[in-house]
Amino acid sequence: MTDKTHAVDLITGHRRMRRNRKADWTRRMVRENALTVDDLIWPVFVIPGTNRIEPVAAMPGVNRMTVDKLVEAAKEAADLGIPAIATFPNIEMDLRDETGSNILLAENLINQATAAVKKAVPDIGMITDVALDPFTSHGHDGILRDGVIVNDETVDLVTRAAVMQADAGADIIAPSEMMDGRIGAIRQALDAAGHQNVGIMSYATKFASGHYGPYREAISTGGLLKGDKKTYYVDPANGTEAVRDAALDVEEGADMLMVKPGLPYLDICWRLKEAFGLPVFAYQVSGEYAMVKAAAANGWIDGEKVMMEQLLCFKRAGCDGILSYFAMDVARLLAKS
Ligand code: PBG
Repeated sequence: MTDKTHAVDLITGHRRMRRNRKADWTRRMVRENALTVDDLIWPVFVIPGTNRIEPVAAMPGVNRMTVDKLVEAAKEAADLGIPAIATFPNIEMDLRDETGSNILLAENLINQATAAVKKAVPDIGMITDVALDPFTSHGHDGILRDGVIVNDETVDLVTRAAVMQADAGADIIAPSEMMDGRIGAIRQALDAAGHQNVGIMSYATKFASGHYGPYREAISTGGLLKGDKKTYYVDPANGTEAVRDAALDVEEGADMLMVKPGLPYLDICWRLKEAFGLPVFAYQVSGEYAMVKAAAANGWIDGEKVMMEQLLCFKRAGCDGILSYFAMDVARLLAKS
């Protein structure tokens, strides 16, 4: 009775974790999380002109496209069941200036894209980013004056831009420039303009990360950027500060929160979900995408397997969805299975 084997039996006999793992059907029965097409938001890069698709070198499989091509792509995304796309413009260099004034043009590239997609594919959600970086000659998200990104003037500018984006048909505004007070200002302005039903997905916790390189190539801001974004993005070392920052956005009226980048910041996803209960989205950013693609291209990992695993892990970490450049590939894979 007291022999060692029996003692082991008593303990582990009741606790054999492998019983639930023994077959595909048991594993499916106890599976806690699943990735579905409803979890995917597809970020896309838009370029001026017509009938053009250009590859992004640092993001194999990702293209920049003109508005007409975007409309076709949006149709395909909607047919696959992807709920929403998020657009990012790469505008002509000579349209970029110190204050990013092109963002205030009702007919700018991003507003044209929104209007065209909404007209042709009304059932796909359009999420538009408000930050100045695609529009400035210095690549910063805000107005740069004497070496400083000025907060309140930037808020004023992105607030006006947000209303114009909503006028063009945007369903969700995604403020990504991390200025203080922007969510409240945008909410007020949207309401005043009759856009009560336009939502705000706050880039609540955006970190001063090294993972954005390929994106900056995709919208041609990399070579422009002077200095870094540490005075407005969160320090990657800080989790509690990120939660405090998100708390302000919640108070100011954010409908959804985003964490960016994704995988290195899963703890933040979990903390935000626990703290606020709002829908939380992770942005699996360009560098994360590029790393998977590069390792897969070298035969060092099984790219498809890693892609699916990483996206599932966002669900386990409490995310309600993921902005991912893999969205179309994943949607096609899910449609097959
Ligand atoms: C800036 C912005 C960034 C990304 C989207 N909007 C970060 C940056 O350039 O500093 C990154 C997205 C990605 O890397 O995929 N408003």
